[in-house]
Amino acid sequence: MKTLAFFNNKGGVGKTTLVYHLAWMFSQMGKRVVVADLDPQANLTSMFLPETKLEEIWSETGPSLSIMSALSPIIRGTGDIDVTPVQKINPALWLIPGDLGLAQFEGELSETWGKCLDGKEPAFRTTSSFYRIIQAAGKKAKADIILLDVGPNLGAINRAAYPVSMPPWQWA
Ligand SMILES: Nc1ncnc2c1ncn2[C@@H]1O[C@H](COP(=O)(O)OP(=O)(O)OP(=O)(O)O)[C@@H](O)[C@H]1O
Ligand SMILES: [Mg+2]
Repeated sequence: MKTLAFFNNKGGVGKTTLVYHLAWMFSQMGKRVVVADLDPQANLTSMFLPETKLEEIWSETGPSLSIMSALSPIIRGTGDIDVTPVQKINPALWLIPGDLGLAQFEGELSETWGKCLDGKEPAFRTTSSFYRIIQAAGKKAKADIILLDVGPNLGAINRAAYPVSMPPWQWA
């Protein structure tokens, strides 16, 4: 299972568009693909899903069906990551939907980054949450390829997202 992150610090250069088309292309070539939207703008999620589905995923009254639902126990401080919500786009393509709420989680990621140096277990759980959420979804889908779309910045989400392609014990 290969994981590819598409990053450029400059915005609007076509990262999301490229991820969207590559995801379809790989799935049509017979590869099993999981795409994860880690950009709080959630443009990739909007490209893949119709408006009615987006309303359901980002419902203010019902449960969230985005990546935020998997992060929820960590954010509330009640436990570890929850089951990864995944939308099936076609028989070989799955999407982990993004969420504007990721912008708020970014503050927490910033704080826990430093706490990892103190060896605090909750800090490692938070920092490695993207890695574990995405790898779990990939494993469940028996994915050949995981594609990550990230925002155009060097913030805490991206710092935690880049090493998704390698396990935390190799981050050094
Ligand atoms: N190959 C292309 N040729 C022309 N226009 C393109 C191409 N790829 C993307 N675009 C257009 O450029 C704009 C920005 O694309 P996109 O949202 O994919 O960029 P991005 O790098 O993901 O942006 P951001 O940094 O904000 O996440 C969109 O309007 C998109 O339709
Ligand atoms: Mg983008």
